[in-house]
Amino acid sequence: MKNIAVIGAGTMGNGIAHTFAQSGFKVQLIDISEDSLTRGLNTISKNLDRMVAKEKISEEDKSNTLNNITTFTDTVEGVKNADLVVEAATENVDLKLKIFKQLDEVCAENTILATNTSSISITQIAAVTSRPEKVIGMHFMNPVPIMKLVEIIRGYSTSDEVTTTIMDLSKTLGKVPTEVNDYPGFVANRILMPMINESIETLYNGVAGVEEIDTVMKLGMAHPMGPLQLADFIGLDVCLSILNVMYDGFKNPKYAPCPLLVNMVMAGKLGVKSGEGFYDYSESRKAEKVSKQFS
Ligand SMILES: NC(=O)c1ccc[n+]([C@@H]2O[C@H](COP(=O)([O-])OP(=O)(O)OC[C@H]3O[C@@H](n4cnc5c(N)ncnc54)[C@H](O)[C@@H]3O)[C@@H](O)[C@H]2O)c1
Repeated sequence: MKNIAVIGAGTMGNGIAHTFAQSGFKVQLIDISEDSLTRGLNTISKNLDRMVAKEKISEEDKSNTLNNITTFTDTVEGVKNADLVVEAATENVDLKLKIFKQLDEVCAENTILATNTSSISITQIAAVTSRPEKVIGMHFMNPVPIMKLVEIIRGYSTSDEVTTTIMDLSKTLGKVPTEVNDYPGFVANRILMPMINESIETLYNGVAGVEEIDTVMKLGMAHPMGPLQLADFIGLDVCLSILNVMYDGFKNPKYAPCPLLVNMVMAGKLGVKSGEGFYDYSESRKAEKVSKQFS
C-alpha cells in the first residue's frame, strides 16, 4: 500500500491524513469544500509544529509529512491511484451510501474501501458496492495523531484477507488495531454512549450536578475527563444520533436517549462546537459549568 485517499478534511479526516502522511504514505486529501481543505492543512501544520516543539519529530519530518499530502475537491481525480480509501465525511447515511456507490464505480478493482463512521452499519454501506468483501470500518479516535486505538469493524461480508491487510496497515501507523463485528455502536460507542446517557439521566433526575458527576467519574474511576465534559467534546448532537442508531438497531429501551439530551440538542446547545453544552465555552466563562437549568 502506498497511496491513501482520505475523503473529508474535517476533524477526523485531517487527523487521518496527518497520521498516514507522517508514516510515509502518499495521501490524497479530498473535500467538497476548499475552506475545509485549507483549514485541514492548517490544523495538520499546527499539530506538526507542536510535535517539533516537543522534539517528537524534526523540522525535516514536518516538511516530509506536508509534502506527502495533496489536496483535491474532485473525488474522481483524488481516488484515481488509491490503494485504500478512508472515508471520513459527515456522519449521514444517505451521504455515505452515495459516496460508496461512486467510489465503487471509479476506484480500481483492488482498492479497499474503509469508513471512519462512528455508528452507521458497515454492512449497509458495503451493500451498495459490488465489492462488499473489500469494505471495512476503520474507526480512528479523536485526536487521531495521538490516540492509539483503531477499532477495525468487519462487515457481514468483509473478507479475512482485507481484515488482515487493514490490521497490519494500522500497526504500521503505530496504532493498536482491535477487531470487532458490525453491530450498532460497534464496541466503543456501545459501551461509552450508555455511560454518557446515564450521566445525563443522573443529572436530569437531580441526583447530582454537572461538576459533581464529572468529579465522581474522574477521581473515583480514574477517567481522564468526566462523561458530561466528554459529551460536550464529542458533540451532543453526535451523542444523540449514535444513541438513536443503537435504539433503532437493537429495539431496546435501554439505549433511549435521555429527554434532557434531546432538549439540549433541540435548543442548539451542542457542547464545545456551539459554545455551550453542560459547560460554558464562551471566551468569558471558559469551561464553567452551566448550572442554572439543571439544579
Ligand atoms: N469527531 C469525532 O470525534 C469522531 C470520532 C470518530 C469517528 N468520527 C466519524 O468521522 C466522520 C467525520 O467526522 P468529523 O467529526 O471529522 O466531521 P466534520 O464535520 O469535522 O468533517 C466532515 C467533512 O466532510 C466533508 N464532506 C461532506 N460531504 C463530503 C463529500 N461528499 N465528499 C468529500 N467531503 C465531504 C465536509 O466538508 C467536512 O469538511 C463521521 O463519520 C464521524 O462519525 C468522528
